[in-house]
Amino acid sequence: MFKGVLFDLDGVIADTSTLHFDAWKKLVNNYFSAKLPDSLEEKTKGVSRGDSLKVILNYLDVSVSDTMFQRLLVEKNQTYLASLENLSIKDRLPGITEFITELKQHEIKLALASASLNGPAILDKLELRDAFEAIADPSKVPYGKPAPDIFIAAAKALELNPRDCVGIEDSSAGITAINHSGAYSVAVGTHPELKAANMLLASTAELNLDTIRQAYPHN
Ligand code: BG6
Ligand code: MG
Repeated sequence: MFKGVLFDLDGVIADTSTLHFDAWKKLVNNYFSAKLPDSLEEKTKGVSRGDSLKVILNYLDVSVSDTMFQRLLVEKNQTYLASLENLSIKDRLPGITEFITELKQHEIKLALASASLNGPAILDKLELRDAFEAIADPSKVPYGKPAPDIFIAAAKALELNPRDCVGIEDSSAGITAINHSGAYSVAVGTHPELKAANMLLASTAELNLDTIRQAYPHN
């Protein structure tokens, strides 16, 4: 049986994933009078703020100065934070409350392995901070997702080997990261690129201990 669960945040615990992309769309509209196609959303999911901006600038085929790059990051985050103003317990994704309760009952440890620098503040708003034994700091790992660093750091913070952990993700960058960390990957969502996961669930509502325990290979 696994001893720890390493959670992504946006799109797994919180209904915040589209808010990130909405903020990018607004920024691009304001600064470049351009529209981002929905297909770009998957390429920014799980990816750090700076790396997401690189993906977007690359799509727009524009280059900006370092100062402008930083300004765009700040402004995107301001828009994003404004959209979180009313975030509360109601924005936990379906099944998350029950799944976390189940994990706690079985004394399985929880760590956050999110790329978001806003992770701790969002957990506070969702009233979930106390449920987590550890929060891996994305600013302290050398490489962001799809590199495995944040999942390795999260397992380490729980004093566990990644092999003894399950990682949960809604992004293809995140699934690649979990797979390379050695943890067992569970994807939630329907995007075709999530098929690389060890276990694929259509939504967070399907997360439960028994389903994962039965499939987990190191029992
Ligand atoms: C990830 C999101 O969880 O966090 C990405 O999926 C986002 O879209 C990344 O870019 C970084 O988040 P933040 O809050 O630090 O800008
Ligand atoms: Mg996510």
